Amino acid sequence: MSHRPAIPDSTQVFKADLFAGKVLFCTGGRSGICYKITETMMRHGVKATIIGRDAKGLSESAEQLEKATGSQCLAAPADVRDPAALKKAVEDTLAKFGRIDFVICGAAGNFLAPISGLSERAFKTVIDIDLLGTYNTLKATLPAIRESKGSYLHISANLHTRGTPYQAHVSAAKAGVDALSAVIAVEEGPRGVRSNVIGPGPIAGTVGMDKLAPKGFKPETQIPLTRMGDGADIANAAMFLFSPSASWITGTVFPVDGGELHMRSMVLPYPQSLIDPESVKHMIKPKL
Ligand SMILES: NC(=O)c1ccc[n+]([C@@H]2O[C@H](COP(=O)([O-])OP(=O)(O)OC[C@H]3O[C@@H](n4cnc5c(N)ncnc54)[C@H](OP(=O)(O)O)[C@@H]3O)[C@@H](O)[C@H]2O)c1
Repeated sequence: MSHRPAIPDSTQVFKADLFAGKVLFCTGGRSGICYKITETMMRHGVKATIIGRDAKGLSESAEQLEKATGSQCLAAPADVRDPAALKKAVEDTLAKFGRIDFVICGAAGNFLAPISGLSERAFKTVIDIDLLGTYNTLKATLPAIRESKGSYLHISANLHTRGTPYQAHVSAAKAGVDALSAVIAVEEGPRGVRSNVIGPGPIAGTVGMDKLAPKGFKPETQIPLTRMGDGADIANAAMFLFSPSASWITGTVFPVDGGELHMRSMVLPYPQSLIDPESVKHMIKPKL
């Protein structure tokens, strides 16, 4: 059974000038889900800064975003693990656009490994990028967000709400991200600042899914709405959470996943993949 209504274009749902005069600061905006959110918001008037490590790729993405949307985009190369580089990206954004209204903390890394095969260094790298990188982004942008009474959006995940094998590093990091969002929502709410989380389900065509989805992954057996997500599904949810219609929504975790969170899903055969990792090696692309 399949139920696949078309995903509406954001302009069929949201006003064309919804974000006119507003500025977005987006880590991870060079590619994937965060690129799609940035593009969608730019179509509704936002000016954007995208942050990532690959300076050349970042400039190319900024150029593409400007061409596709007619709005302005600044490429600000920075590693989210480097507070000074993020501070400079904020200064460059303020120099070019004069304000920051919206921040997306989306930069992240992932790979598959069970705890028994995960080095301390690999675990720490993911914590450093996903969790510490989010903290650094909050710290660097908070003065500007207080000034604009702006809003944070964290691109987290849902896998840490259950014990997802092979994902200890990301689960620990994303649980921390959800917690940071809740704390800043409470600490900064009285100043008019909001903070929310989107937990995407598996999104088709992303590097993350290309790397992580086992061969033969059948969305219709694991996702109640029977299909993989699209970047546009996440972008439409982000549009709402940044819009004035969400002005009394803060501190929430918003799964956008076709209902997958409520399934007892397991990406690799259980418990075979844990008892005998070698036997599932052929099913995943990265090395165990
Ligand atoms: N794809 C999915 O199905 C899925 C599901 C659940 C959650 N998510 C979450 O959604 C977000 C986007 O995922 P995606 O699959 O679209 O990923 P993606 O295309 O690989 O994007 C990740 C981005 O993060 C940037 N990045 C990585 N490390 C960085 C660092 N140290 N400093 C600055 N930027 C860094 C990368 O740019 P550079 O390489 O240029 O640094 C890249 O643009 C992530 O937070 C991910 O955990 C994705």
